[in-house]
Amino acid sequence: MPSLSFFSFCFCLMSIPLEIVTDILLELQPYQLLIAATVSRAWSELSLACLYRRVHLHTTIHQKRFLAALESLPLTNREAIRALNLNAGDDVDLEFALVIFGAQCPNLEEISFASSDDGTEPSSRIAAWCHGAPTFPVDLPLFPFIRCIGCILDGKALDRYRPSFHQLTMLALTAKQLLCQVNSNGDAQSPTALFPAMQTLAVIGDPWTSSLDASDFAWLQHHCPRLHHLSLRDLRLANPHFSASVPVQLSMEFLDLNGIELEDAGWFPLFASMYPALESLLLFIQFGEQAQPLDGVDIAVHRAELARQRFDEMTQEISDWIIGCKYLTTLYIKRLGTASTMSDILEKLMDLVCLGIWNSKLKRFALSGKPTHRCKSADRFFERTGSALVSSLDSLTLNVLYFHDRHRRYPRINNTDYSCTQSPMFPSCNLAPCALANLTSMHLQQGYGKIKTSLNWVLQLCPSLRSVGFRRMTIQTDTCHHHHQHPFVATSNHPLTELTFDGCMVIDTDAFFPFLHELPRLTSLTLNRVGFLELKSEPCLDLGHLLLDRLWLAGISIGIYRCSSMRLLERCSSTQRTLSATQPDSYNTGYCLRVSCGLVEQVYFNQSAPLLL
Ligand SMILES: *[C@@H]1O[C@H](CO)[C@@H](O)[C@H](O)[C@H]1NC(C)=O
Ligand SMILES: *[C@@H]1O[C@H](CO)[C@@H](O)[C@H](O)[C@H]1NC(C)=O
Ligand SMILES: *[C@@H]1O[C@H](CO)[C@@H](O)[C@H](O)[C@H]1NC(C)=O
Repeated sequence: MPSLSFFSFCFCLMSIPLEIVTDILLELQPYQLLIAATVSRAWSELSLACLYRRVHLHTTIHQKRFLAALESLPLTNREAIRALNLNAGDDVDLEFALVIFGAQCPNLEEISFASSDDGTEPSSRIAAWCHGAPTFPVDLPLFPFIRCIGCILDGKALDRYRPSFHQLTMLALTAKQLLCQVNSNGDAQSPTALFPAMQTLAVIGDPWTSSLDASDFAWLQHHCPRLHHLSLRDLRLANPHFSASVPVQLSMEFLDLNGIELEDAGWFPLFASMYPALESLLLFIQFGEQAQPLDGVDIAVHRAELARQRFDEMTQEISDWIIGCKYLTTLYIKRLGTASTMSDILEKLMDLVCLGIWNSKLKRFALSGKPTHRCKSADRFFERTGSALVSSLDSLTLNVLYFHDRHRRYPRINNTDYSCTQSPMFPSCNLAPCALANLTSMHLQQGYGKIKTSLNWVLQLCPSLRSVGFRRMTIQTDTCHHHHQHPFVATSNHPLTELTFDGCMVIDTDAFFPFLHELPRLTSLTLNRVGFLELKSEPCLDLGHLLLDRLWLAGISIGIYRCSSMRLLERCSSTQRTLSATQPDSYNTGYCLRVSCGLVEQVYFNQSAPLLL
């Protein structure tokens, strides 16, 4: 929204009662809040309080600057800070930062950490705070109003927070800390709950605690009666049997089983009865080794047979559980046992949708993680018999290695070949055009330089796409020259608003820069660790036609050389000014990336590339 008309908009709102104004202000972008702050004194206080309410510090440099600025920030602004979200990078002195925050932000209610390991996970947005939770214990200063603690506290700090347990809505615990609470507040039937307000809980395995049993889940249910999101990471689940009847927790909607080893298929029916209202599941499950050979039987054969039976049982129970979750809208699979059990489970799910036995309500689906093998059944996603699962989705995240054999010797990508004859293309050129027609968000990961994707083809297959991201992929702008003689042009006016490349190579750069003009609605462009090959002219990115909220350019290379400087020309009406320029580094390669654009809300420029959030 242009500033002048936004100011007039604020002016019209001046007659609205101040209580309602706050609700409106909370929806605004930072630059709009700064404009709103100039309307009147009352508005100024409210706008600045909204501006400082939630502080995101994405990089170490943001964090250092913010810490330095805190000292001189007026108390009213510091009092307005309620939530701090930090990127827990390796080079951050967290203890030091927390001491300063403790002293300077008296009203802090939430402290959380975002992760940079897999920003494309659907559930990392739900639980970003715990995925990146530092594994070292933090001695958090005592914040009297704290409600959300998204990091592991050390033992002493956790004890000091005991008087605040009743007000906590979010907490991360090590498994040892959880079992300590279970043992010292052992009675699952005690009248008062220890965490009556708790909504989001992460339990993370540690070297001292081997496993959790069903009885620990009963304790959790009793002491966290409002639990909504349970995230378990790096743990073993041992005994799934209850002596009493299975307690039911209707409040539980999100369950993450991330890096969980299971001995017993009995856990799946247990989860099904305990948590009947699940909407979101993240599954990274391994099966434990526990075959017991009998005397006098050929041990190797017997073991293999037992393992096969157990895997069949696991496969059956997992698929029964998934299709039995009536409200499931998000399914994020990182691993389900072995490559073949995973393939069997996907096969089963597709069959059940196809036969109409499973009335899938899935809207978000991901097949991610680190595949060790090609997953044969994945190909079916895009075929008639499997597409019923995929065609109703809004959001799809795929690691393309499930579709291709990582160990097969594909030739190195030929930078001047724009067909799929030498290197495979994903999605493949013969994909049925309607399979992905309703997708609004798509993320593709990890071609390891062997599998290409075509931006144009993706947009053509997904005419409703709003957000697309590629990570570690080789990208060509054009469609395949072998299958599509006439380059597709109908993308102009494509509704795409968010484009992200992270760790990618673009092989037809001369086509890419002009292609951005076909995307007039783009508001967020991220090029992080991107190499542009086959560029025949000066690197110049003209974004003047876009109204951008976010522009992130970091670690850009031209050919094999990193751009040693970047220059951003911000054009507002007739004037141009240089907004940001980096100094040429010692390996001055002479390349300077010139970028011109209109007013941008959030700009990040860096010659080197930090890990992306
Ligand atoms: C795509 O969306 C349209 C409109 O909401 C709907 O009618 C159609 O059935 C959807 N297609 C699929 C395959 O779900
Ligand atoms: C790369 O592809 C082009 C066009 O298909 C072809 O002419 C050329 O020989 C290929 N180069 C190599 C090294 O295969
Ligand atoms: C640029 O990226 C490097 C590498 O991650 C990081 O150390 C540096 O702090 C970043 N600079 C800025 C200004 O963010």
